[in-house]
Amino acid sequence: MTDLVLAITHHLIVFGIAAVLAAELALMRPAAMSPHTVRLLGRFDAAYGALAVAILAIGFARVWFGAKGPDFYLPNHVFWTKVGAFAVVGLLSIKPTLRILAWQKALKANASFVPPLDEVDTLRRRLLVEIHVFALIPGFAALMARGIGLGLGLG
Ligand code: HEM
Repeated sequence: MTDLVLAITHHLIVFGIAAVLAAELALMRPAAMSPHTVRLLGRFDAAYGALAVAILAIGFARVWFGAKGPDFYLPNHVFWTKVGAFAVVGLLSIKPTLRILAWQKALKANASFVPPLDEVDTLRRRLLVEIHVFALIPGFAALMARGIGLGLGLG
């Protein structure tokens, strides 16, 4: 039962992160920038942060309390590649998060604030890289779930 609840929660959070990243990508375009868009980006990015913490907590809960147990995952290098890919996504998101936070501050000081369009363009590119790395993770997940990556990596 614990394994099932953790698995369902894990999948829901994953879809939540995918939705939030897609929403941020749709909003993060120079042509779409307005004070309202900046505000929305702030909300989506806060949701992204909360979901990222949640997937880490639920992911490691699956390792420890899931049906297979930590001995199944911890020696698997594809598991660590998956965790590493998620860490890369997290690292790539630091700059957009810091800028989006700075924009919220600027918006409080000036209600008609719109960020410089070249900065929006740079962050959009970074977001695209982030989403592509994120898209690799389910592949690693499917491999590790089937024991591929254990031992000599031959499954
Ligand atoms: C670093 C945080 C994460 C940890 C520790 C973690 C851990 C796990 C664990 C233990 C499983 C169970 C595999 C099994 O059934 O044996 C799993 C499954 C899965 N994870 Fe994660 N996960 C994390 C983040 C993510 C992210 C960010 C995604 C999506 C981008 C993701 C996608 C999946 C998918 C699709 C499965 C199902 C694989 C399958 O049954 O074929 N996980 N994860």
